[in-house]
Amino acid sequence: MTSTDLQHLYNKAWLFASHAHVGQMMKGSNLPYTTHVAMVANELIFAARESDIGDLAIAMPAALLHDVIEDTAISEEALAEVFGAVVASTVACLSKNLIVPFSDERYFQAIAAHSREAAAIKLCDRITNLQSAPSTWSLEKRASYYEESAQILAALGHTNEYLNRRLTDAMARYKSLYVDGQREHI
Ligand code: NI
Repeated sequence: MTSTDLQHLYNKAWLFASHAHVGQMMKGSNLPYTTHVAMVANELIFAARESDIGDLAIAMPAALLHDVIEDTAISEEALAEVFGAVVASTVACLSKNLIVPFSDERYFQAIAAHSREAAAIKLCDRITNLQSAPSTWSLEKRASYYEESAQILAALGHTNEYLNRRLTDAMARYKSLYVDGQREHI
């Protein structure tokens, strides 16, 4: 796939996600939810320049669409019709609501077993989510989010050394700002 095709695919997936998430906001803010989606895709595209994230023609649209099944009425089948079965199944494996009964362990195992692309997206998702903490979160919630990030690192970090390092750095920064540096945020 040429880079022009990838740019077209980015915009197609971005528009699809923007329509699907319309009206939804990022947690604890009035920013559109797709702000998060674009940050994840950005992290992934930079990672693709530095490391093997799998096939960018799969991983990039799947990154933009990664919350569409979990958070909107779009089904895996509907996604497959527009973006193909591989992108759709990548998004499906990242959708917590499709893991029944749900456990973090089963969820992370399913992602690791699915593909390098799925694991890279989950790592990028958490790296970007550690950029800041929602203002509504208590110290306890921020601390548990940090612990959950350590679980993601342990479960998926081996799949990509570059993203392992990015997540490790993002966690250290988050901990010092939002867990240890609690006084500013109470
Ligand atoms: Ni996400």
